[in-house]
Amino acid sequence: MTHLDADVQRLIELATQAAEHAWCPYSRFRVGAAIETADGSVFSGCNVENASSGLTICAERNAVFQAVAAGHTKIRRVVVFTPTPTPTAPCGACRQVLSEFSDDTEVLCVCLGPDSISTTLVELLPMRFGPGDLDQGRDSLA
Ligand code: THU
Repeated sequence: MTHLDADVQRLIELATQAAEHAWCPYSRFRVGAAIETADGSVFSGCNVENASSGLTICAERNAVFQAVAAGHTKIRRVVVFTPTPTPTAPCGACRQVLSEFSDDTEVLCVCLGPDSISTTLVELLPMRFGPGDLDQGRDSLA
């Protein structure tokens, strides 16, 4: 994945636009995320905070849920944008939610500064909890 790739550029634009719509009056921390699914469809999301703090949703999960609601359950790429000097990687909860729909998913985190994080979800979330764990545990009470 490179910054010169037109598809990645589009995702960066979408993530940047989404961050402009972030509802973050409490943290004042804007996040935008854009997702490309297996067939090339794109979805974006921003963080949406709530006065009841625990109800806040991150930009990445917002984008994932939009994709799934439209029938897309394979995520090829994720771009996260924060208007910060250095890039921000997805939080642990978002990594886990992304992993449900990921297989070798590329993750690019960009910001206002020149640095970026280019990685994969497997790298961000090694030894994830997945459906295989459930399969093993399901019978343990039988
Ligand atoms: N946030 C995200 O949107 N994504 C992350 O991966 C980390 C945190 C949001 C949640 C909250 O609105 C704000 O950033 C501060 O935590």
